[in-house]
Amino acid sequence: MSDTHLAGQIRYGGFLQAIRLILFILYFSAGSIAIVATQFIGAPLYICNKDLFYAYISITKQSFGTLVTTGTQWWTPTTIRISGDKSVRGQIYITDDGLLECNFPERMVFIANHQLYSDWLYIWWIAYTARMHGAVYIILKESLKWIPIVGWGMQMYGFIFLARNWGKDQQRFKHRLDKLAAKDRKPEDRLPMWLLIFPEGTNMCPNARASSKKFADKIGIKNPDHVLLPRVTGLQYCLQQLDESVEWVYDCTMAYEGIPRDKYGQDIFTLRAQYLQGRPPKSVNLHFRRFRISEIPYNDTAKFEQWMRDRWSEKDEMMETYMQTGRLPGDDGEVEVLSNGGMTKRGKRVGKAPSAKGNIVETAVKLRNWLEVPKIFVVPILTLLVYNIFGKFGKIAAIISGG
Ligand SMILES: *[C@@H]1O[C@H](CO)[C@@H](O)[C@H](O)[C@H]1NC(C)=O
Repeated sequence: MSDTHLAGQIRYGGFLQAIRLILFILYFSAGSIAIVATQFIGAPLYICNKDLFYAYISITKQSFGTLVTTGTQWWTPTTIRISGDKSVRGQIYITDDGLLECNFPERMVFIANHQLYSDWLYIWWIAYTARMHGAVYIILKESLKWIPIVGWGMQMYGFIFLARNWGKDQQRFKHRLDKLAAKDRKPEDRLPMWLLIFPEGTNMCPNARASSKKFADKIGIKNPDHVLLPRVTGLQYCLQQLDESVEWVYDCTMAYEGIPRDKYGQDIFTLRAQYLQGRPPKSVNLHFRRFRISEIPYNDTAKFEQWMRDRWSEKDEMMETYMQTGRLPGDDGEVEVLSNGGMTKRGKRVGKAPSAKGNIVETAVKLRNWLEVPKIFVVPILTLLVYNIFGKFGKIAAIISGG
């Protein structure tokens, strides 16, 4: 295979690949079924108290964050490099045990460039490091709603399903965004929300790149080399609907190690290469910055388009820097911000990150505590136990009353 050297050697042969596949399917289906069962068991809460119900669903969403994080940790472990510009100074830490902690806010719109289907796995993990993995909202194709079990779970999560037909979508989109905005509530009573949006609309691939180029030519601007021109309608609509109910847009630039200039990540880091053959990217590089929503010209379409294109051409420059140096830019300001020996907001001592170089920290996707895994299964198992015990009591009662 010609791409063998791009993603590294195949680490696992046919037999081990089959075992890895079976284990992965077992773990993921068991986890998903447990999560959806947990949601159904808790569904009656909706009638008693909606807030309680949403809090409960948020816990099942955390469980999915755990599933995703362990999926990456066990099947596709890789080095993660994190950096940011001065807008996120003091928000990114490595704790004593080498784990990442992001002190990011509870409510935000999260945007990123899009190269691989697996992009969102890393973003969900970032949410995990900010204790916000129960607050992630993603936008998906309408058809995914009807996948058995997983589709039900995603509907319970309040994910946004769009048919890519603005006439049809707008009403539904508005309804979901109004719920997320919760403008009738006091700011402190609004629920945590990380609304994840890939403005490029699709991941980087030959077709998408061609249509990006076509559009760039049409309006007479340069087509970016490493990203696609962003689409603005969806994001603009989100910002208009959410308005002052959310303060920040966080922007993440993602670069995977091992994608040459003339190649596409999706062809190199296929799910098979990553999850079965043991060939994940050698490193995943994430750069953060944030923008105050009130300073984004989202009410004026022309200005907003320009604003987005400017941000995306900055991204393209960062990606170019990555291609040339193997690193996304760090924050030139203060090294100690990333590993300052102080305390994080949650009172964890911050260790010196031994590999912090040029204000870039190295870490890995990892759970804080393995006990989070059995937590995914607690409610269904307890329910079965209780059911079983009541069944036995019933039988005993029947014997007693019968005798
Ligand atoms: C956009 O318009 C809305 C509604 O008129 C207003 O509340 C908001 O402050 C405006 N935002 C900006 C950034 O101009």
